Amino acid sequence: MNRVIEKPIPLLDLRAQHRQIRDEVLAEVIRVIDSQKFIMGEDVEKLEREIAAYSGARFGIGCASGSDALYLALLALDLQPGDQVLTAPYTFFATAGAIHRAGAIPVFADIQADTFNIDVSRVAETLTTHPKIKAIVPIHLFGGCADMEPLCGLARERGIPVVEDAAQSIGSEYQGRRAGSIGDIACFSFFPSKNLGGYGDGGMLTTNDASLGERLAALRLHGSRRKYYHDWVGINSRLDALQAAVLRVKFRYLDSWTEGRQRNATLYREFLAALGVPVTPPVPAPYQTRHIYNQFSILCPRRDQLQAYLKENGIGTEIYYPLPLHLQACFAGLGYKPGDFPVSERLAGEALALPIHSELAPHQIEQICRTLKAFYA
Ligand SMILES: Cc1ncc(COP(=O)(O)O)c(C=O)c1O
Repeated sequence: MNRVIEKPIPLLDLRAQHRQIRDEVLAEVIRVIDSQKFIMGEDVEKLEREIAAYSGARFGIGCASGSDALYLALLALDLQPGDQVLTAPYTFFATAGAIHRAGAIPVFADIQADTFNIDVSRVAETLTTHPKIKAIVPIHLFGGCADMEPLCGLARERGIPVVEDAAQSIGSEYQGRRAGSIGDIACFSFFPSKNLGGYGDGGMLTTNDASLGERLAALRLHGSRRKYYHDWVGINSRLDALQAAVLRVKFRYLDSWTEGRQRNATLYREFLAALGVPVTPPVPAPYQTRHIYNQFSILCPRRDQLQAYLKENGIGTEIYYPLPLHLQACFAGLGYKPGDFPVSERLAGEALALPIHSELAPHQIEQICRTLKAFYA
């Protein structure tokens, strides 16, 4: 086998990113450790304000992970046993896992192939056939917003809330509006691979609704607004002060890193087109006015063989996601079967995420595209 490239290119290179900010991060970590104040406090509050402002929302509520953010959001909505929550089957497991954990039943609607996001016409159909749907959770997958205006319109007609799963989409915009400010509540993740990733787990909720904000802030502290008095049954899901301090350093770089990802996405599209590689790169929909490229997933023929070939040539890739949620063993009881969501099922066999992180050099992107070309030659 001809090796097309010399130096391996990982899917993500967090060590290269860390080298840029190491001194600043270590100074903050030492400051927090020296203070011996690890729970809640100023760093968490400052980050909450910063992320809320960045997302165009009034309130930010830190929590332990994006998964917990989704769970807390659904807890705040007072779902009753037997209530259904509508989402897409093409997402990370946590979206539907949170619905189940909150005691509701996940109901799925298929996605659109060009955006990987929930198809609003399918949402409209599903709402008419499922009167027990009490909330909708669209996902802004891979860094591009779902088609929020018609979706929120359908939710309004029905009088049900929308929870944005913005775990992969901090700073992403829908018609100029930021992810996190469009639905009733939004959920962010600071998992290390996100555009704003911590040095461990972390999450954040945003909302413009003061009473939801107050409730969410309590729910992540066992439902307590006043110490040892509990208005609701919540959970322990705090954002660590150490993580908040690290994230506040990284936040200062977020826009420049996102611009690097955007530049890389453009380069990919140019090289792939110039070389005539028979794959479909993602192109933002007109309403996705700021795509932040948390992932750059192409659709490609013979995906699994291509992935193996790229691996042999030192190029890291990932499949997001190989099995849609309606076909997961743990959801067998929901009664879905293969063929129910054909777009999700097709994309599960065709999507492949390529390296997109901002530390990639243009010549590495060219090398990746040339390796793709060599595979299809
Ligand atoms: C779409 C989506 N939802 C939810 C989550 C859960 O976030 P976390 O890993 O922080 O729990 C993730 C992240 O992995 C995600 O990608």
